Amino acid sequence: MNLQLQTGTSNQILRNISKPVKKITKEHQELVQKMIETMELEKGVGLAAPQVGKNIRLIVCKFEPGTEHEWILPMINPELLKCSDTKVYGEEGCLSVPGFWGKVERADHIFVRFQSLEGTFHTMELWDFNARIFLHELDHLNGILFTDLAKDVKEAVAKRKK
Ligand code: CO
Repeated sequence: MNLQLQTGTSNQILRNISKPVKKITKEHQELVQKMIETMELEKGVGLAAPQVGKNIRLIVCKFEPGTEHEWILPMINPELLKCSDTKVYGEEGCLSVPGFWGKVERADHIFVRFQSLEGTFHTMELWDFNARIFLHELDHLNGILFTDLAKDVKEAVAKRKK
């Protein structure tokens, strides 16, 4: 069964600051599996726990999406350690704000830290679109949606039913 997606820019669950995961349990592992299934079904490149109704610091990211190297990484308690001064604009959308797109300015090179499902700490360097995916998902844990940051939010014409 797929998880119910939280949607809407005034949805309180999407606006809360999510709490750190203190002890990783079987429930978190099951949640991650369901989040990955939901992300794949909805053709997303990332999903954060608040988007499925859980205000905890847990995200899944699909890195190198659309390439033969694409891979999915669950990240618990993700943190941004370092951010490049170089910023780039890129198009973003969100499964919680369906049908809308906008250009968001993000760092193109970041260093991050997170825990794996086993609880091990990892640091990682991310560039370009991978950095964008991570930063978008991290924002969800802080109650921030891309529409708060986008220069111009546009409604996708194809989705319009009028
Ligand atoms: Co999103």
